[in-house]
Amino acid sequence: MANLFRKKNVADLLAESAESEHSLKRSLGSMALIALGIGAIIGAGLFVRTAAAAGMHAGPGVIYSFIIAGIGCAFAGLCYAEFASMIPIAGSAYTYSYATMGELVAWIIGWDLVLEYALGAATVAIAWSEYLNKLLQNLFGFEIPYALCHSPFQTAVDGSHGIMNLPALFILLLISLVLMRGTKESAVVNNIIVAVKLAIVLIFIAIGWNYINPVNHAVMVPENTGGFGDFGWSGVLSGAGIVFFAFIGFDAVSTAAQEAKDPQKGMPIGILVSLAVCTILYIVFAYVLTGVANYKDFGKGGAGHEASVAYAITTYMKGYSWLSTAITIAILAGFSSVILVLLMGQSRVFYSMSKDGLLPPVFSQLHPRYKTPAKSNFLLFLFVGVFATFLPGDVVGDMTSIGTLFAFVLVCIGVIVMRKTSPEIPRPFKTPLVPLVPILGIVVCLAMIAGLGWENWTRLFVWLAIGFAIYFGYSVKKSKLNK
Ligand code: ALA
Repeated sequence: MANLFRKKNVADLLAESAESEHSLKRSLGSMALIALGIGAIIGAGLFVRTAAAAGMHAGPGVIYSFIIAGIGCAFAGLCYAEFASMIPIAGSAYTYSYATMGELVAWIIGWDLVLEYALGAATVAIAWSEYLNKLLQNLFGFEIPYALCHSPFQTAVDGSHGIMNLPALFILLLISLVLMRGTKESAVVNNIIVAVKLAIVLIFIAIGWNYINPVNHAVMVPENTGGFGDFGWSGVLSGAGIVFFAFIGFDAVSTAAQEAKDPQKGMPIGILVSLAVCTILYIVFAYVLTGVANYKDFGKGGAGHEASVAYAITTYMKGYSWLSTAITIAILAGFSSVILVLLMGQSRVFYSMSKDGLLPPVFSQLHPRYKTPAKSNFLLFLFVGVFATFLPGDVVGDMTSIGTLFAFVLVCIGVIVMRKTSPEIPRPFKTPLVPLVPILGIVVCLAMIAGLGWENWTRLFVWLAIGFAIYFGYSVKKSKLNK
């Protein structure tokens, strides 16, 4: 029986990352990493999930949800930064836990990261489809039939059913092709998109500020309407679990560690700066959005439930329909960059797991010329595509949130464990106030997990159970550590 807690040693890990042949190219500097972070961070979380959280759980109190989620991420981000500077190689939390808590935990986390990256990409692809429809409507008065841009689990107000989400599948294919071509090229495209994305957030805030209707903010935290999470402060907590999605991605920076030019310095900067910028923007943005439109518009069946920002502008900011169109185009581009980073993160985690023997070798084969894991990119496209095509955005989005929160908890634990077991390894960036910061990270993330409710806990358990089956059926025997 294999030892389930066998560990990779950090020296070997670093040596592996140093070998230049057959490895990924080191092409990303600090700015590129920050851009990568922001590229992954601002997306569906802000432009879709904010309104969903406000409409279904928190009302304008969603700004407090953002504060809770931001605090949780800051604690976890500080822990990620220590690991990313200490073990700057591909694979993120998966790799860190392999060195600290052993193979079984590493597997659990790697498997769990699929929820974050792959399902995250699916969620954003679904959001992309919503805004594409809005754009077609704005420009040509034409809409893709409901059935072809919604999952079979969705029904429109008029009773028509979804069949499959084709636009979501389309954007995933497009981005997968870009990724197969190469990281450097992808980073250039990403930088441009990040600039556009920051610009639209700022423009919406600046113009929307004048359209805030004080009536909409008269009650910041609407009274609880019965169950846990139905408005009131428990709703704010549920909202935090949902808008947490908006922060996902800062850790994706760490998955690119092996492609960073100066990872020791660049990793913590990339993670923390991108996180700080986004938190501030989010709070102000949510304040403006729930001020311009009433949160009730964003509830299920509400007129603003889909493509909420475009809705708020067209409905309440008269004379700015051009802005709605411009923002919608920018949002579509912005979502593409999020999908790009998430899919890239996913393929890099699989790359590491496959190098370690826990997944089949196909996931670590590099394209001879482009040096990208092209086959893996393609397989992932198929996998993510199934989720994006056949499941509703709320479901996939909540699964992403819960999976990521769980990964954050494990990373926070990892920092504490690693300080005890390997104090001697140099840490160019140290998490401050250990164990306080990691413990607070664990507490806040667990609170958000609690806020996501039993349906999502069940989904997480089922997902982990499938992971165990694969681990014991395949990975434990094929692990390179067997040799
Ligand atoms: N944070 C990313 C988004 O909001 C995943 O879309």
